[in-house]
Amino acid sequence: MRVGVLTGGGDCPGLNAVIRAVTKSLINHGQCEVLGIADGFEGLMEAQPRVKPLEWDQVSGILHMGGTVLGTSNSANPLRDEPTAEQVARNVRALGLDVVVAIGGDGTMSLAHGLAERAGFACVGVPKTIDNDIAYCERSFGFDTAVATATEALRRIESTGNSHHRVMIVETMGRHAGWLALESGIAGAADIILLPEIDYDLQSIAAVCRKREQRQRYTIICIGEGAKESGASLTVRERVEHSPDPVRLGGIGHVLRARLQPLLRSEVRTTVLGHVQRGGDPTPFDRVLATQFGHHAARLVLAGQFGHMVTLQSGRIGSVEIASVANTQRTIPEGHGLLTMARDIGISLGEPA
Ligand code: F6P
Repeated sequence: MRVGVLTGGGDCPGLNAVIRAVTKSLINHGQCEVLGIADGFEGLMEAQPRVKPLEWDQVSGILHMGGTVLGTSNSANPLRDEPTAEQVARNVRALGLDVVVAIGGDGTMSLAHGLAERAGFACVGVPKTIDNDIAYCERSFGFDTAVATATEALRRIESTGNSHHRVMIVETMGRHAGWLALESGIAGAADIILLPEIDYDLQSIAAVCRKREQRQRYTIICIGEGAKESGASLTVRERVEHSPDPVRLGGIGHVLRARLQPLLRSEVRTTVLGHVQRGGDPTPFDRVLATQFGHHAARLVLAGQFGHMVTLQSGRIGSVEIASVANTQRTIPEGHGLLTMARDIGISLGEPA
């Protein structure tokens, strides 16, 4: 069998661990050849595909490394027009690929599904995202590392906020899901956590800060980039035409600072964590999870279960049809235990008093 491997969308700690596990499992099986595809779908979109054989040696020593040795792209859109989709299909045929293992987020899964429908693309999906927002995947690799990074940032910001008696706003990534803000906010002892799933009330945030001005004299606010004030719209950093991910979020922390400052005596400052959350070595948890996902993807390939994505549900690794994941998102459901716990221990979620 000839198997292609690509990483699509934003990078994420643990991608190399998946590449390593899927390649080693397939090579060990004895009858597989593995080709690494450069820069996600982009490597298949041009007349000359960009691929390189993946041998045992190429994937040794990369388990602990952040990023992806294959490169990635979150703007490549193989479905942008008919000729591009056909070019991808021609390249797959010319390379003799029986199946492509696509490691990516919901965008990559939607593209893989679209290519399967339009160009008969055989694919096995592996979910990746620091946002933890892929359906049927209760924990995606990369998330644990991102939570650890954001938590450390919150702790560091707390000490300076405390010294200067400031209100410190820390903005995390996460797009339309608040998992990263919620878990790092709890772990980093934030006083207020603002999530895309719950529109916030400015007056209630100001009231919490004013109360803390009396005693603790500083406040830590952790806000997910997709959060917004009641009645307001999303804060968009930029729009990218023809991209499968055309809306880039970012900057709500600054918007909140501008709205909050006039209501408070303390100085309000914002830190946007940005790409530090995506970089760096994966935690041991993510290395193990990514290795399990890569191993399971190889098993799906060998079993001929194309059109499936690796899943994690109730702690068990399995798979679902990619079709059921495409264009979906796993946000925090109201009533989730972490929301209830946060409220019960006095963390404000920005809800009206
Ligand atoms: O989906 C992962 C993610 O890191 C989001 O949390 C964030 O909104 C987006 O990617 C940022 O992408 P870019 O690297 O294009 O700024």
